[in-house]
Amino acid sequence: MTLIKDNNYLNTRLKIKYIQDHTQTSDNGFDVIQGLTQQPKILPPRYFYDEQGSLLFEKICDLSEYYPTRTEAEILQNYAQEIAKYTGSCELIELGSGSSTKTRLLLDVYQSLDYPLCYVPIDVSGTILEDSAKQLLNDYKGLQIQGIVGTYEAALQMLSSRSSSSKMVLFLGSTLGNFSQTECDRFFAQITAALQSGYFLLGIDLQKPIEILEAAYNDSQGITAAFNLNMLNHLNQRFQGNFDLSLFKHWAFYNTQEHQIEMHLICQKSHTVYLAALDLTVDFQEGETIQTEISRKFNLSQMEQYLETQGLKPLQSWTDPQKWFGLILCQCR
Ligand SMILES: C[S@@+](CC[C@H](N)C(=O)[O-])C[C@H]1O[C@@H](n2cnc3c(N)ncnc32)[C@H](O)[C@@H]1O
Repeated sequence: MTLIKDNNYLNTRLKIKYIQDHTQTSDNGFDVIQGLTQQPKILPPRYFYDEQGSLLFEKICDLSEYYPTRTEAEILQNYAQEIAKYTGSCELIELGSGSSTKTRLLLDVYQSLDYPLCYVPIDVSGTILEDSAKQLLNDYKGLQIQGIVGTYEAALQMLSSRSSSSKMVLFLGSTLGNFSQTECDRFFAQITAALQSGYFLLGIDLQKPIEILEAAYNDSQGITAAFNLNMLNHLNQRFQGNFDLSLFKHWAFYNTQEHQIEMHLICQKSHTVYLAALDLTVDFQEGETIQTEISRKFNLSQMEQYLETQGLKPLQSWTDPQKWFGLILCQCR
C-alpha cells in the first residue's frame, strides 16, 4: 500500500490521506479490463464516483422516488440517542462517507453528550470527501477529522494496524447491497480484522414491492440514467477512453429471484471502444449490456443471522414504520 498524498492543511483538525493499494487489482484498471473482456460485460460500481458522479448521487438522494436516503435519515434521527448509549464515546469511521450528511445526525448526538468528536471518513471520491470534511469542521467546533481517500479494502487494511480505544464503523446507504455474497464474506472478514473490538452500524435496504423499487432506480427526471452513463465518462477520463455516451442507454430492473436491482447500460449500435491507458479494445454488439451495479434488497432477520456468523453480534435493529430500511448495530467479538 502506498501513501500518495498527505494533506495536512486548514489546521490541525483536518488530515486527509490519499492511499493507493497496489496489492488490489483495482488501482491499475485491471478490474476494468477483466470486466469488459468477459461475457456478459460488467464494471465495478465504484467507477460511478468521480466528482460529477458524486454530485449526481447527491441529486439522486433528493429525488422523491429515491426513498432510501430519507428513510435511513429518519431512522437515524429517531434512534441516534440509543446508538450513542450503546457505544459511549467513540471514534466514528465511515466507509463510503460521500457527503456525510446522515453522519451529522450521529455527530449532533455525540456532541450533545460532550463526547470528543473524532471522525474518519473513507471514500474513493476525493473531492466530495474534502468538501464535506471542510463543511463539517465549520459546523462542529471540537471535531477532529482524519479522512482517507481510497477503496474500502485499502483503508481497512490500513486501519487494522491502528489501535484506538473505542470505535464504531459506519456503513450506511445500503452500499453493502452492491456486493455479491462472496464479496460480502470477504468484506466482513476485513471489517472484523480492522475492528478487533468495537461497534459496526450497518444500513440496509429491505425487500418491498417491485413498483417502489423500480421507480427508485428509474426516476422521472433521468438523474439515475445520467449517473449510470457518467461511469463511461469517468472511464474515458481515467483511462483515456473514447466511449460515446449517446451509444448507450440506462436500464434498471428488479430481479425478483435474486432480490436485487440490476443496473445496466445497453449498447444501441454495434461499435468498438478503445481505452488507451489500458491498451484495451472492446467490441460492443447492438443490444449488448454492461452491468454497472447490483443493489441487493435484504431481509432484516436473515441479515442479523448472517452478521452473527461473521463475528458481528447484533445488539439492536431499528426500522421505519413501513419497514423499508433497516439499521443494525453490532458489536465485534
Ligand atoms: C451509495 S453511496 C453512499 C454514500 C453515503 N454513505 C450515503 O449513505 O448516502 C456510496 C459511496 O461510497 C463510495 N464508494 C463506492 N465504492 C467505493 C469503494 N470501493 N471504496 C471506497 N468508497 C467507495 C462512493 O464514492 C460513494 O460516496
